[in-house]
Amino acid sequence: MFITLEGPEGSGKTSQLPMLADYLREQGYDVLTTREPGGTIIGDQVRAVLTRLDNTTMQPRTEILLFLAARAQLVEEVIRPALAQGKIILSDRYADSTLAYQGYGHGVDLALLRLLLDFATGGLRPDLTLLLDVDPAVGLSRRRSSGGEWNRLDAYALEFHQRVRQGYLTMAQQEPTRWRVVDASQPPDVVQSALSQLVLNRLRCDV
Ligand code: TYD
Repeated sequence: MFITLEGPEGSGKTSQLPMLADYLREQGYDVLTTREPGGTIIGDQVRAVLTRLDNTTMQPRTEILLFLAARAQLVEEVIRPALAQGKIILSDRYADSTLAYQGYGHGVDLALLRLLLDFATGGLRPDLTLLLDVDPAVGLSRRRSSGGEWNRLDAYALEFHQRVRQGYLTMAQQEPTRWRVVDASQPPDVVQSALSQLVLNRLRCDV
């Protein structure tokens, strides 16, 4: 089963994901975690180009193609082989990040992005997507105060991050069988147990 975690900056995805993976392993599941952009040697090199603060001349189309290049590599090298072995894949971001950030955030045509995403992923879609929803004003200030990694992509204006959030919520509404929304402004342990329950429910329905 292919499960993705999505959300705006500072939604806590990156700290929740390993806890969720540990919990599922305790329940006896074989779990593999990945992160985007990156997750492979080639993908991590692409990630370094995307996040460098001094790459200020990066063009929007260049940015999209780099995200897609990292993802194409991740799908073929890691995700498809693990799915074939019956593993649960938990991915920190996936194709919906491109729709939320480049589509809803930067205004790139969504239909075109969907075509490009299908090309990059060979049409591989998640079975379940967990949206950690938080007001970006809260998320970004959390991120700064926690001293977390601050990169070129975080530096976009608050309005950009508001559009990203709304984009996520729109996608979740449009495809309610795949998406589950969790209020990520709650304390981390509350968010964690909500995520665990949602995944367990889904796994139990699947057998
Ligand atoms: P990262 O440091 O991993 O942020 P986070 O912890 O919030 O996931 O950086 C990833 C950044 O890249 C983040 O700002 C979202 C952005 N992004 C896109 O704009 N499009 C994409 O397709 C992906 C995968 C990420």
